[in-house]
Amino acid sequence: MDTQVGIVGAGPAGLLLSHLLAADGIESVVLDARSRASIETTVRAGVLEDHVAELLRSSGVGERMDAEGSVHHGVELRFAGRGHRIDFNELTEGRSIVLYGQHEVVKDLNAARTAAGGDVRWETETTQVTGVLDGTPTLHHRSGPFTDELRMQRSGDVSELTCEVVAGCDGYWGPSRRAIPEALRTEYERQYPFAWFGILVEGPPSSDELIYALHDNGFALVSTRSPTVQRMYLQVDPDDHVDNWPDERIWEELHTRVRSETGSDVVEGRIFDKGIIGMRSFVCEPMQYGNLYLAGDAAHIVPPTGAKGMNLAVADVRVLHRGLVERFRTGSTDILDRYSEVCLRRAWKAQRFSWWMTSMLHRFPGNDPFQLRVQQAELDYITGSRAGSTSLAENYVGLPLEIPSAAPAT
Ligand code: DHB
Repeated sequence: MDTQVGIVGAGPAGLLLSHLLAADGIESVVLDARSRASIETTVRAGVLEDHVAELLRSSGVGERMDAEGSVHHGVELRFAGRGHRIDFNELTEGRSIVLYGQHEVVKDLNAARTAAGGDVRWETETTQVTGVLDGTPTLHHRSGPFTDELRMQRSGDVSELTCEVVAGCDGYWGPSRRAIPEALRTEYERQYPFAWFGILVEGPPSSDELIYALHDNGFALVSTRSPTVQRMYLQVDPDDHVDNWPDERIWEELHTRVRSETGSDVVEGRIFDKGIIGMRSFVCEPMQYGNLYLAGDAAHIVPPTGAKGMNLAVADVRVLHRGLVERFRTGSTDILDRYSEVCLRRAWKAQRFSWWMTSMLHRFPGNDPFQLRVQQAELDYITGSRAGSTSLAENYVGLPLEIPSAAPAT
């Protein structure tokens, strides 16, 4: 065996798993087709549930997050020109979220793995995962960099990495999920008829907390990354293109969708990044097959509203880490045997929440006036009822984590 755990994918899930396993003396090798620089600069969401922030701290990678990120105790829902605060502090007994970019988490994990001598191989593409049911789990891989020309030249150049367990942390497009025979997996999927146009802005925050706004023109979200970098989103058509959105048009649309009766509005700054983000839901059942365990986007994708993607990946990794520690220490697979069931239960609740937030806050094509009235009534109910607000708040800060413990020795 080349290593104990072969991890496909050096995003947050794969790196965190490798980092946590190393602290328990379990060896892993992480492979990713992308370059370190490209992973570290891909902009994703930036909301960490409190258990995620706490885990980063307790495992020694939370220092920069605490210095540069910010703790938020609520969010605002804005509709019909009015803002309504959802107070996490009051509704969830003091719980909170941390605003800190996902790619910053990746940088911190990379720094920690590199400093500890961890084996992370970037520009190393896994072409196939075999031997996970019986035989020797093997990651077939080849080295980049992968310009199209080199990909052709190197196509014969495949090496093998053998391991005891494979963690498939390689996202929706990765090869891990395909190692589960098609007849044995069920995939659930939903496409949404809109996308998000995201910008990064150099400038001060527009408000102390995130603003989720529903306007007749569609959804808008005002978020933040740091005291000097802001993140904002606009609902757009899924076929729209970045070139259709010069800066002036972006600001005009943000002002229109976000401005409230009290005059509260977005603060403009220099836009230095623009991108369009597709929206869909996806779940693969089961998340385990033999010695293969899927985690994060390889197993489930949520639409971005509510920022559950990375939080869910971290929850998977926590269960997987606990199960692997038990397996390598005692030989027992009691926890691993429940991996798929436990993770899917949380994943479906996150799907429900993300789908619900998305449905409540976006304009659907067709401008159905009945649907719009129901959406407004829903927002009115959620912001006006303590039960409604509590439901949003407890999902937003993160539902309780279920991490099975080892069966007591008999
Ligand atoms: C961010 C992204 C989200 O999807 C969200 O719901 C809130 C914030 C962000 O990128 O900051």
